[in-house]
Amino acid sequence: MRRAVQVATVVMVVMGCLAFDAGLIAQRLAHTESEVPATNPFSGDEKAIKEGRSWFMAVCAPCHGPRANGAAERGPSGADLRVFKRGFEQFVHIVKNGREVGRIGKMPGWGKVLSDELIFQIGAFLETLAIEGAYWGESQTKP
Ligand code: HEC
Repeated sequence: MRRAVQVATVVMVVMGCLAFDAGLIAQRLAHTESEVPATNPFSGDEKAIKEGRSWFMAVCAPCHGPRANGAAERGPSGADLRVFKRGFEQFVHIVKNGREVGRIGKMPGWGKVLSDELIFQIGAFLETLAIEGAYWGESQTKP
């Protein structure tokens, strides 16, 4: 009898955790329309950078390459993001809405998949890879 209670307690705790996780994930993935700040609120935030890195590897690296240099595993296809120079707001705008220049292909929009917060975190990660010519400050042109 005591054992049954113990087992039930463990099951409830585990289920509680799972529900909590699912709620968190749903919340993170939810598309929330919010104001995009002029500069990245997660700049230099280690935890956010780590999170952004794993999302980048999962959803962006197939086209932009694991080093974000535009060299994907199956040949270059995305842009070299180490030299992104349009500023933070433009970054968020492009990632949300996608863009098509035709020459090298299409950048898909992620606004319905990734929350603003996740896009900011991916941006914070990409900032750490910036090389000469890159610019992540306030965008000069409005998105
Ligand atoms: C299906 C392939 C693909 C995926 C996946 C992809 N991109 Fe792109 N992306 C491209 C291509 C191709 C371009 C270049 C086209 C253009 O500049 O319009 C591009 C362009 C960009 C640009 C503009 C670069 C510049 O210098 O203006 C940014 C920023 C960007 N991608 C970020 C991301 C991020 C962040 C992710 C992950 C959430 C991502 N991309 C996922 C293909 C992809």
